[in-house]
Amino acid sequence: MDSFEFNKIAGATLASTIALLGLSIVTDSAFTPKLPEKPGYIIEVPEAEVADAPEADAERPIEFFLASATAERGEAVFKKCSACHNAAPGGSNGIGPNLHGIVGAPAASRGGFSYSDALGAMKGQSWSWNELSAWLADPKTYAAGNKMSFAGLKKPEERAAVMVWLNQQSANPLPLPEAPVEAEAEVPNEAVTEEAAETVTG
Ligand code: HEC
Repeated sequence: MDSFEFNKIAGATLASTIALLGLSIVTDSAFTPKLPEKPGYIIEVPEAEVADAPEADAERPIEFFLASATAERGEAVFKKCSACHNAAPGGSNGIGPNLHGIVGAPAASRGGFSYSDALGAMKGQSWSWNELSAWLADPKTYAAGNKMSFAGLKKPEERAAVMVWLNQQSANPLPLPEAPVEAEAEVPNEAVTEEAAETVTG
């Protein structure tokens, strides 16, 4: 074997070792059980588990994530938006329009902001929880040709959190939608839930 080939093999071995190491670190942290906020009974699916099951997430309605979203997390998520938006009452438009009270508000209706035709075509609709979630998940697909240059929030728990925070900024916050019962009862990973249960009871 010449030394070039040897280096290639050595490099490949090293790369896969690093990948495995990375995987085990990720797995470890994903399975660290989280204490539920209200001990005693378990309804909420621990966040680590949710993050671990993207396929299951895609099938869950946003109401499911809204039920456990916190404004604190939403405020942190909003840092991804704040280069272009603020949510202050009477706040100025920036690169994007002011978002004060945007949850439930009519779309494309902020005075003084020059919307794209794509968003302008949404006039008459309003930003319900579901519409807002779909827009934030993938703005480009939601309204082709709009000018919000933002990749989107792929994680439903991030969308839920930022919406809960935005809603809290409003003078007239909307009530949170009811969490779907069947989604709450669904437990995709028993092992993690048992661990969490042990933490709670023992
Ligand atoms: C790079 C700048 C940028 C970032 C980052 C960004 N936006 Fe936007 N956003 C815009 C622009 C520009 C528009 C107007 C789009 C148009 O007219 O096509 C917009 C429009 C919107 C609208 C529609 C407002 C209305 O009046 O109907 C919402 C809601 C919104 N953004 C929320 C967010 C949230 C929440 C985030 C962060 C998760 C975010 N945006 C991140 C630039 C941005």
